[in-house]
Amino acid sequence: MRPELEPKGKTMLIKETDYGTPAAKQPRVCGNSNCGCASGVVQEVHADTVMVTLEIDGNSVTVPQGTSIMRAAMQMGTQIPKLCATDSIDAFGSCRLCVVEIEGRRGTPASCTTPVESGLKVWTQTGKLAKLRRNVMELYISDHPLDCLTCAANGDCELQDMAGAVGLREVRYGFDGANHFDKQKDQSNPYFTFDPTKCIVCSRCVRACEEVQGTFALTIDGRGFASMVSPGEAQPFMESECVSCGACVQACPTATLMENSIIEAGQPEHSVVTTCAYCGVGCSFKAEMRGNEVVRMTPYKDGQANHGHSCVKGRFAWGYATHKDRITKPMIRAKITDPWKEVSWEEAINHAASEFKRIQQTYGRESVGGITSSRCTNEETYLVQKLIRAGFGTNNVDTCARVCHSPTGYGLATTLGTSAGTQDFDSVEEADVVLVMGANPTDGHPVFASRLKKRLREGAKLIVIDPRRIDLVKTAHIKADYHLPLRPGTNVAMINALAHVIVTEGLVDEKYVAERCETEEFNRWRAFVAEEHNSPEASEKYTGVPAADVRAAARLYASVKNAAIYYGLGVTEHSQGSTTVMGIANLAMATGNIGHNGAGVNPLRGQNNVQGACDMGSFPHELPGYRHLSTEDVRHQFEAAWGVTLDPEPGLRIPNMLDAAIDGSFKGIYIQGEDIAQSDPNIQHVIAGLSAMECVVVQDIFLNETANYAHVLLPGATFLEKDGTFTNAERRINRVRKAVQPKGGYADWEVTMMLSNALGYPMNYSHPSEIMEEIARLTPTFKNVSYDLLEEKGSVQWPCNDKAPEGTPLMHLSGFVRGKGRFMITEFVATDEKVGPRFPLLLTTGRILAHYNVGAQTRRTDNVAWHPEDVLEIHAQDAEDRGIRDGDNVALMSRVGETSLRAKISDRMQPGVVYTTFHHVGTGANVVTTDFSDWATNCPEYKVTAVQVRPTNRPSEWQSQYHKQREATRRIETTAAE
Ligand code: SF4
Ligand code: SF4
Ligand code: SF4
Ligand code: FES
Repeated sequence: MRPELEPKGKTMLIKETDYGTPAAKQPRVCGNSNCGCASGVVQEVHADTVMVTLEIDGNSVTVPQGTSIMRAAMQMGTQIPKLCATDSIDAFGSCRLCVVEIEGRRGTPASCTTPVESGLKVWTQTGKLAKLRRNVMELYISDHPLDCLTCAANGDCELQDMAGAVGLREVRYGFDGANHFDKQKDQSNPYFTFDPTKCIVCSRCVRACEEVQGTFALTIDGRGFASMVSPGEAQPFMESECVSCGACVQACPTATLMENSIIEAGQPEHSVVTTCAYCGVGCSFKAEMRGNEVVRMTPYKDGQANHGHSCVKGRFAWGYATHKDRITKPMIRAKITDPWKEVSWEEAINHAASEFKRIQQTYGRESVGGITSSRCTNEETYLVQKLIRAGFGTNNVDTCARVCHSPTGYGLATTLGTSAGTQDFDSVEEADVVLVMGANPTDGHPVFASRLKKRLREGAKLIVIDPRRIDLVKTAHIKADYHLPLRPGTNVAMINALAHVIVTEGLVDEKYVAERCETEEFNRWRAFVAEEHNSPEASEKYTGVPAADVRAAARLYASVKNAAIYYGLGVTEHSQGSTTVMGIANLAMATGNIGHNGAGVNPLRGQNNVQGACDMGSFPHELPGYRHLSTEDVRHQFEAAWGVTLDPEPGLRIPNMLDAAIDGSFKGIYIQGEDIAQSDPNIQHVIAGLSAMECVVVQDIFLNETANYAHVLLPGATFLEKDGTFTNAERRINRVRKAVQPKGGYADWEVTMMLSNALGYPMNYSHPSEIMEEIARLTPTFKNVSYDLLEEKGSVQWPCNDKAPEGTPLMHLSGFVRGKGRFMITEFVATDEKVGPRFPLLLTTGRILAHYNVGAQTRRTDNVAWHPEDVLEIHAQDAEDRGIRDGDNVALMSRVGETSLRAKISDRMQPGVVYTTFHHVGTGANVVTTDFSDWATNCPEYKVTAVQVRPTNRPSEWQSQYHKQREATRRIETTAAE
């Protein structure tokens, strides 16, 4: 018979490590006293912590009050057998393996749930306990298939370990009694298998799904012997609420929940700690390997951004690295209609270099440029911009941040003095109110979303400002206090309305503002937002949000000690993106919400290294560290280090490079790890620009869409194939460590170096650490950053310099980086993109959990099982008005283009607004998005496009052309090779 489950109360999450790796040298601190931690992690002790001394097995031990006996025992090196306790979730007390005896007390309490008390005398190893533990294990083992030798978990199974630990040698009950051996496996999830015959009903999976992931997809059905783990309502995993984060698989002590890659390949032999290459959360993972093959990515418990959690992308969607579509040989061609010809690295590099030289000689120095990649490492990005500035001698360099968070850089630098978020992710644990604006964390930044949801379940309040009902508005055990579903394009009106309430209702933190902000600018701003046209009532006609809700949300935001703002591309990708960012900073300053934990202004950065790409000087007007080219002493510093004279004038941004190409003055481009022919707006314009160039050099792991217009293809390396660093959304510099050799032979930084040398500008680094040394020498905010420091600390957040030698988790502590905080006037100006009779709906775009950006990687994994195509979400009324049924194929038309895709009638949408993703090439969502862009930074207005939708049964003209063109430009001649 299986032991009964006894639901117990909840406490806190704990961080633990079980692997000694270079990134984990410093002692870790844990705030949870009540866990099944087996690591000897140092417990958090504050000056006011009450310490308790007790005796365990005759030895005295002193631990903080509230510590469990199990943990206290571990602290002195005594491992008490356990099954249902683990580090990442709260102790539960169901397996009864960890029982102890306490002098003067009856019974044998579970040590994982019994707190220490002063003077207790505890015995963990007695004859009675040994017998009890063996009895428990006998019950488990008698209902367990004894196939250890062929089990995928053999050697990594806690049940096996515990049977050994308690000295179980025989099972008196035999194996012929009632059992669960006839239960069927659930193999519906492409990444893991659920084999109920091996389940010991310890409930670790259920608790991991609740406490760590916050999805509540699992339950224990039934009681006693009949109890069973069940996804949803006895559904297969794929039909349940499960989002495939893998937390349950990681928590499972047996082979019941097991990664398919391990079932197929066997247990890993060694591992390397590295950083996920998908989103700006920057989760740390152990790349676990057998020989030279990665067999599992396990979230790293010492990862300071993720604390051992993951999402489906980082955890499972890494198969693209070995996908058959990988380009591993350099290729060249004269015209884009020619087939690609595989050539040696030398030939490809020399060809690219001679083409760039020819173009510059013919059309002038400014006729070429480059795009750095937010998918590549800091070191690689730094090298590309260095090559453009020093090798090409032009500042025509830009990055994908142009199309995502460039307004963040501008807006935060203007108001606060630095182009980055103010907090670390841990800060959210102290937030009392969280305002999420234009971000969809459960899809875009899932691991951060789990932290946020945990805080919300603990009682923090939530305001969501988004045209669409994102998951956070209402999900398991979470309901937003206010959802303000504004009309796309009215962010500034909304921010001004919130500010109006704060100013006119006396909610300004006057002391904070007086001490920390520029008085004159504040007074001007105060007078401006107080004007009637900024009131919630006046703004309602633009935003569509009832004034009463706006007033209530503003009061809530301004009424607590710690209010945090998290925002995303729904803020920046607008014609007034920079204005909204400044408006957000204004709100936070006015309420004293910058400079302490639980507060701040936090851009949720998109791609894995978009923060780093910006930090490394990828913008045409800025050198690394956000220093303007026109600043002479800064420029001279780089000139001295690089041995060149730099042009003091800013170069071209991506849209300007494309315009100049169409005009005939821009002829050559080097694009590393960026797919502008899918990701950038108005694809027709992008294609026209690329087609007009004489030499397009693409460096990528696949033949991406931009490569259709390229003349040289240089194979890229995945994050598993190189060393370097990524910087995440909290300014955290994390190591990327090479797990396997680059498939094409070279890491991306080596390829840039070869190209530079061939161009005649020498680069001679032998390892990315040397590039980081150069970055640190030339960039004040990186002054103390080195690979040695990263090995020692695991990661550091910039600024990391003499003032903050170990980095800066929290910015603007006692004052703003720019000195005094600067309030900016944020007049609402409606976008030029207007709805009208021909285009009466507004299209807004975004991402979905299963995919990332252009989907080049995730589309080449089993993640397509969740999202095989882009669909158009539409409100039932809009659908009915147009005779559209759920699943119908529809034409989506704007002033610039047309595509077709399937419609999904969705109650997430408000009438008049439709939504789609841009992960699939055949859909081409950016065929319809326009050239309108942010006034300050040219960030495209992806979030507002006037469209019409109608039923159709055929692809759009663009789609038909696309397929023909794709066929013509992607042929590879396979005869020649190195
Ligand atoms: S599936 Fe694994 S974690 Fe969940 S109850 Fe069964 S043995 Fe425990
Ligand atoms: S994979 Fe994640 S979401 Fe799915 S059941 Fe497991 S813990 Fe829950
Ligand atoms: S995609 Fe983002 S949240 Fe998911 S594992 Fe990677 S870094 Fe973490
Ligand atoms: S480990 Fe304590 S009851 Fe299971």
